[in-house]
Amino acid sequence: MENTKRPIVVSGMRPTGRLHLGNYWGALRNWVELQDKYDCYFFVADWHALTTAHEETGALRDNARLLVADWLAAGVDPEKCVIFRQSDIKAHAELYMLLGMVTPVSWLLRNPTFKEQLQELYKQKYKGQEDKMKKAEGVLKQLAEAHGHDADELALQSDMAVYGFLGYPVLMAADILMYGAQRVPVGRDQLPHLELARDMARRFNHTVKQEILTEPEPLMTSSPLVPGLDGRKMSKSYGNTLELGEEPKALEAKVRKMFTDPLKIKQDDKGHPEGCVVFAFHKLYNPGWAQRETECREGKIGCGACKKQLVELMGAPMAEQRARRQAIEAGNRADEILAAGGKKAAARAEEMMARVRAAFRL
Ligand code: TRP
Repeated sequence: MENTKRPIVVSGMRPTGRLHLGNYWGALRNWVELQDKYDCYFFVADWHALTTAHEETGALRDNARLLVADWLAAGVDPEKCVIFRQSDIKAHAELYMLLGMVTPVSWLLRNPTFKEQLQELYKQKYKGQEDKMKKAEGVLKQLAEAHGHDADELALQSDMAVYGFLGYPVLMAADILMYGAQRVPVGRDQLPHLELARDMARRFNHTVKQEILTEPEPLMTSSPLVPGLDGRKMSKSYGNTLELGEEPKALEAKVRKMFTDPLKIKQDDKGHPEGCVVFAFHKLYNPGWAQRETECREGKIGCGACKKQLVELMGAPMAEQRARRQAIEAGNRADEILAAGGKKAAARAEEMMARVRAAFRL
């Protein structure tokens, strides 16, 4: 990996527990391919997890281990890429702070995901306490009217709008710019943050009149649509996920629950696979999915049989994932790999920080 001139790729994931198939097909599968073509830095974004959840942090370290075990079991290879934990590399905090010096607050306030996520957090916090929520909304609304703002603006005034959350794109920029990343694989939702990282790099270089930070480009890899069990986007907060290594019983129960064509009631009713979750997964796991599609449309197969076959098809890769993961967990490999990767990342980060500090004449 050393001494090559391959472009540098940086990407991170938050340690929020076991990964699901949306994470796998949307990101992790690409990582496994990227590690052969680029110099990749993949990290556990534990500080990022704090930007939206700083009250319950007891599981952070365990979740980091679970995350790394899932990565490795899916084929991310520590011989090919650098795997580390963000909070082990304190230089990320230093670069974050220094980038903060060149980042106008207006850029961060304009970030489209900021207000959206703030509202989401707000809803989650008051979940199950609708009364309180109504009251809080009422108060917000009244305040908003009194001050001539909209309620959005007032979410900003709440205790939940912490500085770390507003500044999270600066932290993300520090993660990326630290390693001179040329390419960053991100989903659509993260594109505005990448744009901000580019802006910060440009502004920093302009300020110090040197080309130190590299403007990263997004790496948009095509990924298939992975619906959740209920047909909405697969997401932990919807409780509609399939994990990478489901136990056979859980897999069967979950596939049984999958949303299918509501118009196909009897086995020989003609089906409409386009909105069917079971079909979406056949497309991913069944090389013969086209035949299934025809059979469904012609009413030659029932949903029960279709589901049964899917359980069989998905069972094998899930069993493999579980076995690999167990071996990693039994050998405590995650901690070892994070420690070794941390050393490599720290060395790179220190090189960059020396240049950044010098540029600021520190
Ligand atoms: N913001 C990303 C997320 O929440 C995680 C992340 C942090 C990241 N730093 C990054 C992704 C740098 C790519 C590059 O999912």
